[in-house]
Amino acid sequence: MKGVILAGGTGTRLYPLTKIINKHLLPVGNAPMICHGIEKLRIAGIKEIVLVISKQSAGLYTELLGGGKEWGVRLTYKVQEEAGGIAQALSLVESVLEPKEKFVVLLGDNLFENSLAPYVKAFQEQEAGARVLLKEVKDPRRYGVPILENNKIVSIEEKPDQPKSNYCVTGIYMYDTSVFGKIREVKPSDRGELEITDVNNEYASEGQLIYDVLDGWWTDAGTFESLYQASERFMK
Ligand code: DAU
Repeated sequence: MKGVILAGGTGTRLYPLTKIINKHLLPVGNAPMICHGIEKLRIAGIKEIVLVISKQSAGLYTELLGGGKEWGVRLTYKVQEEAGGIAQALSLVESVLEPKEKFVVLLGDNLFENSLAPYVKAFQEQEAGARVLLKEVKDPRRYGVPILENNKIVSIEEKPDQPKSNYCVTGIYMYDTSVFGKIREVKPSDRGELEITDVNNEYASEGQLIYDVLDGWWTDAGTFESLYQASERFMK
């Protein structure tokens, strides 16, 4: 199975740190942020990885990671020219996948403790549809929040004022190539982005969005506070 790490976007919430360096190259504990995601995929047995990066710092990525040999993986790169949203970034990897191939997607600023191996195994055994990982969080309003009924995700609300559960949809997603058809269906949101939540809602409306609750700690690192917390966790 291949893996994809989405490391485009602008990182505005971490300005001015991200004025001179791309968010996913900032230090998190003992390593640049991007290395944690690569390591998590490698440990789950996923050694062929596509990194979607922005033009900012593109040269630094190849300097740090090259073709991935030193990191025990095979890396290729796709450049997202503009921050058109998570789903737009994901659309760039269609050409590197075989028809019907299954793959794992990580948002580059998502950091977590445990191995993905059991979830990836479950997805390999899943007949159809997509799979997402949920985590209980203190402030669900910052995230995509699932509405759950009878152990199923019926839909996801992106950054709702009044969340209908205490879970967030983490940036750990599993798809097959049917996702690209769904991305083509979605329209840009009010903030002008192709939203991954709209794509996941297509699966949910077909009853094809399966979930697991992720064990161990999880955080994103898109704000100063969460970046700091993530760093602390990787120093322990
Ligand atoms: O962290 C989990 C959350 O991530 C989910 O709960 C939300 O449903 C999902 O929309 C996303 O929300 P954020 O507002 O935190 O996403 P953000 O714009 O910060 O982007 C997260 C990562 O996605 C970023 O580190 C790199 C990648 N990205 C983002 C954009 C907008 C791209 O590769 N390209 C992009 O254009």
